[in-house]
Amino acid sequence: MIIAVDGPAAAGKGTLARRLAEHFGLAYLDTGALYRATAMRLLRAGAAVEAEIEAEAAAAAAAAIEPENLVDPTLRQEQTGALASRVSALPEVRAALLQYQRDFAARPPKGSGAVLDGRDIGTVVCPQADHKLFVTASAEERARRRVAELRERGETDVDADQILAELKERDKRDAERQASPLKAAADAHLLDTTNLDIDAAFKAAKALISAAKG
Ligand code: DC
Repeated sequence: MIIAVDGPAAAGKGTLARRLAEHFGLAYLDTGALYRATAMRLLRAGAAVEAEIEAEAAAAAAAAIEPENLVDPTLRQEQTGALASRVSALPEVRAALLQYQRDFAARPPKGSGAVLDGRDIGTVVCPQADHKLFVTASAEERARRRVAELRERGETDVDADQILAELKERDKRDAERQASPLKAAADAHLLDTTNLDIDAAFKAAKALISAAKG
């Protein structure tokens, strides 16, 4: 069983996808971590967040990603996410990461299936997924969650207005890029979590999947 969970940043897809994987006994792949790990390699090689990205070097960084690169806590930092968003607009990078994602879905480490979360899982990576969810929430609510997450991590210097502006900028870039833009698959179930906490979102997602399974 393959479950595709797509949606914009901070809509709650990661937590939801992890819980679905646990509930149905499936492997889980956070595909955003692949783009973040690619960005991290470029940053460690001296790239600046705002500088022009060299497509060939970025594709080489993407092709070198190993599973152990995906567990680095620094992947969640804002500057890594900002560069990941720009890196992910490059078709060369998307092509380099596509096979990794498809191999994971075809041969999940746990054997029985997988949940993948990202932006283009239901549309490009796994168009044949058994279940597709498109998880959204208002930009204001997503920014509020991101601020709370950063404060919980101990970051004291958090500018809520700036977080909202950056989130909107990232949404725009993810949705407007030519290569695999963020969009709901025609056969995806839409799940708006603006007014749902994680338990309610999980219940709604589980009900959608269980109903489709019959
Ligand atoms: O979900 P996230 O914030 O960890 O993703 C980081 C960036 O990677 C995000 O700006 C969009 C990009 N991304 C993508 O283009 N395709 C995916 N399947 C997953 C993430």
